[in-house]
Amino acid sequence: MRRHKIEFELSIFDSLEELPTEERRLMIMAVDARGMAYAPYSQFNVGAALLLDTGEIIKGNNQENASYPSGLCAERVAIFSAGANHPNAIIKAIAITAASEKIKVGSPVAPCGNCRQSIKEYEVKQGSPIKLLLMGERGEVYKCESVADILPLGFDSSYLG
Ligand code: THU
Repeated sequence: MRRHKIEFELSIFDSLEELPTEERRLMIMAVDARGMAYAPYSQFNVGAALLLDTGEIIKGNNQENASYPSGLCAERVAIFSAGANHPNAIIKAIAITAASEKIKVGSPVAPCGNCRQSIKEYEVKQGSPIKLLLMGERGEVYKCESVADILPLGFDSSYLG
């Protein structure tokens, strides 16, 4: 029997103002996207902004549905939009933020399992990591160098041969 420990590093910034300019700008775009979320059922508004290697920023927000499972998270709205409209661009980073109309979202919000899997697909496709910037409504920002870090032992195309 062998034991193998999987660790990853998170950088924690006290606030948006502490981030380097390009990353701060990206998170501000995610906040902007958050404000346009369609979340009448959960009132949990999520915004995502992707930075492409072309310098372009692609935004997304959660889109809910009266038939709940038909809705989609902000991260997948954004990443599928990038995949559909900029298929050859490299995605450098994704900023994610959430605010609720019912409770205070005081700590950074991390993508759900389905979104981690979907973002990871594009890391594998492009052969380079996608940086994650995570924030609640405001306050601390977590930076993570790759989505693979938060999806250990993940499944990808390499298993399919
Ligand atoms: N949501 C996201 O948009 N991203 C996440 O990573 C977690 C959850 C959305 C889905 C749903 O519209 C609402 O937040 C409550 O779960």
